Amino acid sequence: MDKRYSYWAGINNRKDASVAVLQVKPTKGILRADQFIIDFMKDNHTNSILDFGSGYGRNTFALAGRTKIVWAYDFPNMIKLLTEDIRFKDYDNIHTTSNWEEVKEQQFDAIVCVIVLQHICCKDLESYLKDFLNISKNLYVQTRAYIDFTKEPIYPILTKYWKHCKSYSGKHTPEVLRTYKRNEHYCIHLIAK
Ligand SMILES: C[S@@+](CC[C@H](N)C(=O)[O-])C[C@H]1O[C@@H](n2cnc3c(N)ncnc32)[C@H](O)[C@@H]1O
Repeated sequence: MDKRYSYWAGINNRKDASVAVLQVKPTKGILRADQFIIDFMKDNHTNSILDFGSGYGRNTFALAGRTKIVWAYDFPNMIKLLTEDIRFKDYDNIHTTSNWEEVKEQQFDAIVCVIVLQHICCKDLESYLKDFLNISKNLYVQTRAYIDFTKEPIYPILTKYWKHCKSYSGKHTPEVLRTYKRNEHYCIHLIAK
């Protein structure tokens, strides 16, 4: 089985503290979206958003409350958790899928990737970034600076295909991003070149 898939597919069985947060079953009101997403929703009017690597929907629900339609894309085990969330039945505008071919046929006002790209190996990441160009003109990324498995810096890969529009958090200026601080999360809005 693919290394990345097995990492995430096994996440519900893992007992180590580092993934404990992902094992928590979401219940109403307890989990909230990242500040990055809250800022994003404040500043943008969008009708359709792709939550790429949605996980169990931490940001998906927040997005769904602010836009017409949200597509949540992730591996099947994560999508299952999302659809089991007690909030899921309250929303009729969340479309869940693990089928990238299906996603590739859509158009979105924005793609949101929160803490996802750092988990994807360079070759696959490039392929996703190219596909993203065909389905949206706006890409909102929150990520660590390096790919987990290969330790390659993500920023040059991103900007090979997408143009840096603005850093989303005042703390993370372009200069900070270019120093690739290992443990910093950075939030940027990229636009199609
Ligand atoms: C740290 S979680 C973040 C989940 C969610 N975006 C959030 O902020 O709560 C990373 C997610 O990325 C997903 N992921 C990793 N590689 C992926 C890939 N190649 N395609 C889709 N999802 C992926 C994982 O399954 C996992 O749900």
